[in-house]
Amino acid sequence: MSQQVIFTENPGGVVDTLISDMNPAGVCIIADSNTAHCVLPRLREESAKLKDAPVIEFPAGDGNKILSTLASVWEAMESNKLTRRSLIVNAGGGVVTDLGGFAAATFKRGLRFVNLPTTLLSAVDAAVGGKTGINFNGLKNEIGVFKEADAVVVSTRYFSTLPSVELLSGYGEVIKHALIDSSENLLRVLDYDISGNDLSALQNILCDSVEVKRRIVKVDPYEKGLRKSLNLGHTVAHAIEAQAMRNGVAVPAHGVAVVWGLIVDMVLSHMLLGLDSKWLHAVARYVRIHYPAMSVTCSDYTSLIELMRHDKKNTDTSSINFTLLEAPGKVVPDCIVSPDDIRTALDITRDLLGV
Ligand SMILES: NC(=O)c1ccc[n+]([C@@H]2O[C@H](COP(=O)([O-])OP(=O)(O)OC[C@H]3O[C@@H](n4cnc5c(N)ncnc54)[C@H](O)[C@@H]3O)[C@@H](O)[C@H]2O)c1
Repeated sequence: MSQQVIFTENPGGVVDTLISDMNPAGVCIIADSNTAHCVLPRLREESAKLKDAPVIEFPAGDGNKILSTLASVWEAMESNKLTRRSLIVNAGGGVVTDLGGFAAATFKRGLRFVNLPTTLLSAVDAAVGGKTGINFNGLKNEIGVFKEADAVVVSTRYFSTLPSVELLSGYGEVIKHALIDSSENLLRVLDYDISGNDLSALQNILCDSVEVKRRIVKVDPYEKGLRKSLNLGHTVAHAIEAQAMRNGVAVPAHGVAVVWGLIVDMVLSHMLLGLDSKWLHAVARYVRIHYPAMSVTCSDYTSLIELMRHDKKNTDTSSINFTLLEAPGKVVPDCIVSPDDIRTALDITRDLLGV
């Protein structure tokens, strides 16, 4: 399985070429309430084929990635008379590519779709790799299918309207991919100033980063082995996000929790697998400069560890499973880590990040 991913500074033109090649019986855009206003006017100007395409719009935010929104999207697909020969263009962040991809994969047993990610996080992660779905019963991504988009058009062109925290969030996944890939990739990523708004330099970093995910997904599309390396930083990130929700203060964005989780994983990797501390200090320095302070205190530790026990990746609740690193590019999945080591790693992380 190999997904077509096109990197371009002219996404409208590329979408036109794709539509000409696919020759669908009708095209429909799915967007959220933000991308419908920030992105679609420019996209329609730049794409002759999308100029008059109908738009299915739903309210922005992960809280709307739910069954009732999906049902309203299916209804709109019905009223726009879409058939199996139609094409969907998902223009938005991960919420749009997840929900729009799932809607396309299931409507009339599936029609073709193109993802046009408009956040850094969706470009580097959500839009690529075939996971689609919705949240259900308060559980994240509980219902979904693996279905790769027919094409993904990756460009930084529409990132100029993104709130800065969304850029930071996506860059958390970029740092993760670099750690999984190689020390050279990591040095390049840490050399880029994510607060500096140089979107054309970001485009090159984006290509390398998406390639890392694509290579992994190609070998292991259904997360049986190698794809677990993409969980780096996520055991801790998911626990911090859940704990923040309990405390009534959400973390600024998912990828921000991921960078905090990466530092904890790098500390554990240094303690348990001998990861050279120079990499830990280099990444921690970048995070200290660019990212918000980690919202974890020592009174959170017990409940964070409890949350980590219930992470989907564990086979039972008596052990806590981490993906760790021997070195950049050398990932070790399925490491069982003790609660005492997690407490020590959280202490060291808070010191490193100046919390
Ligand atoms: N399928 C996967 O493999 C995968 C991987 C990672 C994350 N996800 C999912 O992706 C979602 C998170 O993705 P996200 O961070 O892109 O969130 P998002 O889609 O909610 O986008 C973040 C915010 O930015 C707005 N936005 C999007 N593009 C914009 C633009 N160009 N200008 C201005 N505002 C814009 C959105 O409306 C939203 O308010 C979560 O639901 C997560 O579960 C899926």
